[in-house]
Amino acid sequence: MSILRIPGPLDPHVHLRGMDWSHKGDFATETAAALAGGYTAVLDMPNTPPETARPQALARKRRELDRTAHCDWGVYYGAHPQGNLETFPEAFQGVVGLKIYCNPTTGFMYMRSRTREEHFAAWRDHGLVAVHAEEEEVAAVLELVDRYRIRTHFCHISTRTELDMLREGKRNGLPISAGACPHHLFLTELDLPRLGSFGMMKPPLKTQADQDALWEALSDGLLDVVESDHAPHSLTEKQADEPAWGVPVVETTLVLLGTAVDEGRLTQDRLVQLVSTNPRRIFGIACPPNTWTDLRLGLAEPDMIAAANLHSKCGWTPFEGHRVTARVERVSIRDTLAMAGGRIKVEAGFGRPVVQQRIGT
Ligand code: DOR
Ligand code: ZN
Repeated sequence: MSILRIPGPLDPHVHLRGMDWSHKGDFATETAAALAGGYTAVLDMPNTPPETARPQALARKRRELDRTAHCDWGVYYGAHPQGNLETFPEAFQGVVGLKIYCNPTTGFMYMRSRTREEHFAAWRDHGLVAVHAEEEEVAAVLELVDRYRIRTHFCHISTRTELDMLREGKRNGLPISAGACPHHLFLTELDLPRLGSFGMMKPPLKTQADQDALWEALSDGLLDVVESDHAPHSLTEKQADEPAWGVPVVETTLVLLGTAVDEGRLTQDRLVQLVSTNPRRIFGIACPPNTWTDLRLGLAEPDMIAAANLHSKCGWTPFEGHRVTARVERVSIRDTLAMAGGRIKVEAGFGRPVVQQRIGT
């Protein structure tokens, strides 16, 4: 058994919900889940109503996070399919980047390619763009990156084909980075008969060959980050005739990755890069002093993941029953013990907005 101390793990991709979707999760419950899962900071996506695509909605989200978040936080602005270019200058101050949805998914922010190009180009002097792009949309966005040279992060990469396109893009010197999610790393489409709608998300679960390619790319550095894409939905919504897309995973990502270290599938150094050093460099977010997570590795008696022990409001996990040999022991944020032994030690509102400096390459 050993303890791996990770400097300020940052999850650059969560859907905390709150506001009009507080029945799925709220800023207090979902940041508690992040903290219990070992994250000291999270970056929240814009597709929850009222969508973070207008300065007023952005201000409201920031106010509510400020009052109720347990861990540190940042928010994305969203490109809106109806067009919100004119609001960009006002939004820039309060966000870590622009999110563009290039495929349909939860919410109403899917943007077709023509409008997409204008919004992509307009963010040029404002920092980083993160894209939801699957398969051929990865190729389409790479063309835009080539044309406009904007720092672009490709979220939740899930197939070998996508990885091949990104490898080529990196080889050509494009300013890009890419992330993979725990569900694509630890589940495949073969889990679907067992999981049913609880295994449905966008991008969907893929083949074993795709998963193998993701693990290779984690080790060889093509993938820069592991991001959870934590996306809680209520049990009723998941069991509906048309189930909602998305899985709540922020609380189990680090223990799953720690277990992969124990199994020799990932080195400790690489784990630290994927969940801390790289996301912090890419998004330009420095780690505050005395901010770290102690991850115990090599548990003699594995823990079993169970929704009953998790903090997310939604009350279920796609990893129910998974055995893990890693456990999050303690989290310190700015010299305050924020979580220990599964218990949250700080009040709602303790979390601070992240401080973004120059974004990295
Ligand atoms: O499965 C997903 N759920 N994928 C997304 O892109 C969005 C997310 C959500 O917000 O529910
Ligand atoms: Zn997402």
